[in-house]
Amino acid sequence: MKVWEIAERFGLENMRLTEAPEPVPGHGQVKLRMLAASINYRDLVVVQGNYGKAIRPPVVPMSDGVGEVVALGPGVSRLKVGDRVCPTFFPDWACGRPRDAVMQMDRARGASRNGTLCQALVVDERAAVKVPDYLSNEEAATLPCAGVTAWNALTYGTPTLPGDTVLIQGTGGVSVFALQFATMMGARTIVTSSSDDKLERARALGAGDVVNYRTTPEWHQEVRRFLPEGVDRIVEVGGADTVSRSIKCVRMGGVIAMIGVLSGARSAIELPLVVMRFIRLEGITVGSTEHFEAVVKAMAHARLRPQIGAVLPFDQAPVAFEKIKAGGTFGKICVTM
Ligand SMILES: NC(=O)c1ccc[n+]([C@@H]2O[C@H](COP(=O)([O-])OP(=O)(O)OC[C@H]3O[C@@H](n4cnc5c(N)ncnc54)[C@H](OP(=O)(O)O)[C@@H]3O)[C@@H](O)[C@H]2O)c1
Repeated sequence: MKVWEIAERFGLENMRLTEAPEPVPGHGQVKLRMLAASINYRDLVVVQGNYGKAIRPPVVPMSDGVGEVVALGPGVSRLKVGDRVCPTFFPDWACGRPRDAVMQMDRARGASRNGTLCQALVVDERAAVKVPDYLSNEEAATLPCAGVTAWNALTYGTPTLPGDTVLIQGTGGVSVFALQFATMMGARTIVTSSSDDKLERARALGAGDVVNYRTTPEWHQEVRRFLPEGVDRIVEVGGADTVSRSIKCVRMGGVIAMIGVLSGARSAIELPLVVMRFIRLEGITVGSTEHFEAVVKAMAHARLRPQIGAVLPFDQAPVAFEKIKAGGTFGKICVTM
């Protein structure tokens, strides 16, 4: 089978399409013929060698994808040949609260040899989630990291309720899912973006109010204009450049779901504001198989469709990395096998 990998040295220019032996499922495992994969910003970070010291080549990139079960190892009871499933992001985190033992980053999918950018993959059956028939392969491929992260940004701890207000930063993969989920949950949403065109796309998906954070750098003041008491929840992907503003426009007792650090990983924040305003800064790192199953159940009920921005053939997979690096695409960038 063919597989894209970083064999020895990190760097997009070092991604190679190579031949690897067909994997054989062991006890409790299934073999997937991969159908599609989908890129996250995090996959670019991995390939560039910036995902932490524990991650070393060889790496098969990308955490998100979907495949068809083509072979069963001994002892498999939940899945059968022909099922269409997504591998989960943290193969060891089935359910329950986050724990060190199940969240090692070097074993997260796409940070080791077990990424989805390959023609065949063996996974534990308990680390695979069946996807609904109404989703295309490309749509299903977007769920494991982007979909589950957005879901937990809105539901972890105190869940979003109908009528809640949610501020979503940017229109990247996680953020568009968060917009779609928040709209499905009956929340009032505000979306920020650097692009008026993308804000129009966000409006079409249900965004109530929109702010261009490039032309309105003090966007938090605009949020306060829409909602004088502040917003109930913020999906924070900007990091260093945005978190201080988020603290200023979240309501007393509100939640800032800390997802990404796109503008930088270190920030001096005014801690007294967090303390005195009962603000909850909640770190989120993707989620478990149980979280993923909740996503699929809710999506199937609402017939919610992920947004697809570009689809590339397998032999052009590095273009997906260039596209996410360049930004500009609204909707997920996928690769078909
Ligand atoms: N914690 C987790 O579990 C988890 C999971 C997935 C991703 N992440 C992290 O979340 C972030 C987003 O990932 P992604 O895959 O969704 O990325 P993506 O698809 O590449 O989206 C990036 C988008 O973020 C927006 N953005 C960039 N800088 C911004 C800023 N300063 N303020 C507001 N928005 C800004 C831009 O939106 P516009 O083009 O509209 O301006 C950009 O298009 C990354 O840092 C990633 O590592 C974390």
